Amino acid sequence: MSSEWSRQIALEVALAAERNRRDAAVSEPLRKPRPNPVQTPAEPKSVIVPSEKTVAVRAEDVTAKDLFEAELEAQGVELTHLPEPTPGETEKETAPDADPENRPVLMEMRNITLRFGGVTAIRDISFDIRQGEIRAIIGPNGAGKSSMLNVINGFYHPQEGEIWFKGSKRGPMRPHQIAQQGIARTFQNIALFKGMSTLDNIMTGRFTHMKQGIFSQAVWAGAAEREENENREIVEKIIDFLEIQHIRKKPVGSLPYGLQKRVELGRALAAEPGLLLLDEPMAGMNIEEKEDMSRFILDVNDEFGTTIALIEHDMGVVMDISDRVVVLDYGRKIGDGTPDEVRVNEDVIDAYLGVAHE
Ligand SMILES: Nc1ncnc2c1ncn2[C@@H]1O[C@H](COP(=O)(O)OP(=O)(O)O)[C@@H](O)[C@H]1O
Ligand SMILES: [Mg+2]
Repeated sequence: MSSEWSRQIALEVALAAERNRRDAAVSEPLRKPRPNPVQTPAEPKSVIVPSEKTVAVRAEDVTAKDLFEAELEAQGVELTHLPEPTPGETEKETAPDADPENRPVLMEMRNITLRFGGVTAIRDISFDIRQGEIRAIIGPNGAGKSSMLNVINGFYHPQEGEIWFKGSKRGPMRPHQIAQQGIARTFQNIALFKGMSTLDNIMTGRFTHMKQGIFSQAVWAGAAEREENENREIVEKIIDFLEIQHIRKKPVGSLPYGLQKRVELGRALAAEPGLLLLDEPMAGMNIEEKEDMSRFILDVNDEFGTTIALIEHDMGVVMDISDRVVVLDYGRKIGDGTPDEVRVNEDVIDAYLGVAHE
C-alpha cells in the first residue's frame, strides 16, 4: 500500500470520526438535511452568515467548515450555498475596509538606511503599505524613491533596518525568491524587448509562473503545451483589459510612448502580482495618456484587489488616485498621510517650492 493511499484512508477515517462526533453534538430537532453533503468536499462553498458578510471556506478544510456550519445550524441560521465565486469576486467580498488606516499591513519598512558608497540614498525611513491600497511615493529628483522600490522588491539590501512582508521579517533573498514573492514592477525607463511584439513582451511576464522547464518540455510535451495555453489565456485577458488588442502583434519599439508604458504595465500584471510597483508610470505622457493610465491603475486596484505602490511626479494624479502618500526628500521621510494631509504639510510644501522654512 503506498503511503499516499494510506494517508488518504487515515484522512477518511478521521473525517468520519469527526462527523460522528459533530452529529452527536448537534441536537436532533435542529438538524436539517444538508444541501451539499460532505462526501463531495471538492467544491469550495460559501456561507451567508447573519451579518451578510460572505465567508469563503476552503474545501480541504472540511472539518472546520463542518463545525462552522453545524454551529450556525444549531443557532437556527438558514444556510445558503452560493456558487463558487470567481477569483475577482472573492477579492472584492473579502476586500479590506475602505479606510486605509483600518486595512491590514502588507509590508512594513522599519528604519531603512541604504548607502551606495559615500551616498546615503535612504536615511532611517519607516512606513507601511496596507493591503489593497494605492500608496504613492513622491519627492524631488534624487530623493531616493526608485531606490526605495528596489528595497521593497528585494533587489537592494539596506545596510540598516528591517522589512516585514506578510507578517514576517524578510531576510536577503536570492533572485529566484525575489521573482516568487508576488511583487512585480515597472521601471522609470521603459524596459521592454523593442523588437518583440506586445503579446510576446507580456508573455515574458509569465516566466515566474512557468513550471515546465526545457527538459520536461522535451520528454512530456503535453504538460508544457497545456501550460503554454493557460499562460496565453491569461495574457489575452490582460490585453483585453488594457485595451491593446489592436497592437498585440506590433513590435513595441514602433509604438508611441504612452502605449509602451501600457505594455509594460501589462507585463507586470502577467505575473499576477499581489503587490505592484510602478516607477513613474506616467512620466513623459500627455494629459490624455495620463488619464488613461490613471484609469487602468485604478481598475487594476479595484478589479484584482492588487496593492499598488507608485512613484509619480504629477501631483494632480497622485492626489486623485492614491489612498496615502509618503513624501521623501534627500533620502529622508518628510511627510506621510492621506493626500489631504500631505497637501497642507509645510515641510512638503517647502520641499516642492524650494523654500527654506524658519
Ligand atoms: N545604483 C546606484 N549607485 C550609486 N548611487 C545611486 C544608485 N542608485 C541611486 N543612487 C543615488 O541615490 C540617490 C537616490 O536616487 P534615486 O533612488 O534614483 O532617487 P529618485 O528616484 O527619487 O530620483 C541619488 O543621489 C542617486 O544618485
Ligand atoms: Mg527615480
